[in-house]
Amino acid sequence: MSNTSFILRGDLCWSTSPDQVEAMRNGYLVSVDGVSRGVFQEVPEEYTHLPVADCAGKLIVPGLTDLHVHAPQYAFRGLGMDLELLEWLDTVTFPEEARYAGLDYARAAYRKFVEDLRRGPNTRACIFATLHTPATVLLMDLLEESGLITLVGKVNMDRGSPDNLREESADSSARETLAWLESSADRYTRTGAILTPRFIPSCTDELMTRLGELQREYRLPVQSHLSENAGEVAWVRELCPNSKFYGDAYDQFGLFGGDAPTIMAHCVLSGEAEQELMKVRGVYIAHCPASNMNLSSGVAPAGKYLREGQRIGLGSDIAGGTHGSIFRAMSDAIQASKLRWRLQDQSIKPLTTAEAFYMGTVGGGSFFGKVGSFEPGYELDAVILDDGRLSTPRELTLTQRLERTIYLSEDRDVVGKFVQGRRVF
Ligand code: GUN
Ligand code: FE
Repeated sequence: MSNTSFILRGDLCWSTSPDQVEAMRNGYLVSVDGVSRGVFQEVPEEYTHLPVADCAGKLIVPGLTDLHVHAPQYAFRGLGMDLELLEWLDTVTFPEEARYAGLDYARAAYRKFVEDLRRGPNTRACIFATLHTPATVLLMDLLEESGLITLVGKVNMDRGSPDNLREESADSSARETLAWLESSADRYTRTGAILTPRFIPSCTDELMTRLGELQREYRLPVQSHLSENAGEVAWVRELCPNSKFYGDAYDQFGLFGGDAPTIMAHCVLSGEAEQELMKVRGVYIAHCPASNMNLSSGVAPAGKYLREGQRIGLGSDIAGGTHGSIFRAMSDAIQASKLRWRLQDQSIKPLTTAEAFYMGTVGGGSFFGKVGSFEPGYELDAVILDDGRLSTPRELTLTQRLERTIYLSEDRDVVGKFVQGRRVF
């Protein structure tokens, strides 16, 4: 029997669809070789030989996925929040990311990022590093040790930023990416590489052509930014006069879904044609509500995307966003959707708690495979929460406890965590 075969006992909540949260008080979640066999009110005969980890009274939910986060920005979250995107990049973000040329700074900053990610409720993440290969490999080493499962990208940028945060040429950026892929290949079991052109204004056509070739040769997933801010969208229109819309500028290089599993962060300002292409190509949308509010970008129509069958999960987008927990992204998403509905567009009803919970678990988790639920066949990522700090004089139902956790929980409430059936703590 492997140590990824066991039973967790506690108060379990998980999504089965965007509008259905299942809940079982005092249930038994069965893991066999790190894969869920389902949740039961009594342990089925065939599993009675498995050890039981008794978490009675604790809330147990699937691990959360952060579909979009910048590790090198963790150190300045909560700063520069009076600016809009392009000015924020130039004055706050790029100078900070330039520091990661130095490994001592990178080590100190990335250690803190990884330790805090490990302690919180997220079990999976898609992470931007910087353009620096040594610091990116260091980040991957730290993440591998953490026990979490992540995809990490060395960022590509050969235009549109200062000399100290720009690669010399498309060729040197592509060659450095190849060196990074080779130095990280076969080095990890939980940490993968994801191709990361920062966004169109940071990458020349020549670089995008080379990255498209690398994507196909190495069958890499892709992550980038899309239609986040009005100034950015106008800039892309100028840079790419032959593109029909922003997403088309990625598509022309084969970097917009289809055979390349792709995440695009934001999609606040995506028009109908862009939305249609995302749907056809199965592009994942990383909805990052806190970032969109902090940088005054707007509010993405996440409810529309979800209800129309787009692939969508949640991102913290640190340091556009300030908090790493995807519980926080769930409540931010709900609140932002209410303002959008009231003030901008009454045709898109606010997100419900069930929808936000779905996006933060199954929605983002599915980028990693069968991840984010306790239904049979899902990889066993689980978070154990002591919500005793939130107790009230009256008895709450399990779904009420989940809702309060979404709004009120803090990382310190996470008392245990499993990834693919392996105990992180
Ligand atoms: N677009 C290009 N780079 C960035 C970044 O670092 N953060 C956000 N929010 N948008 C971007
Ligand atoms: Fe981002």
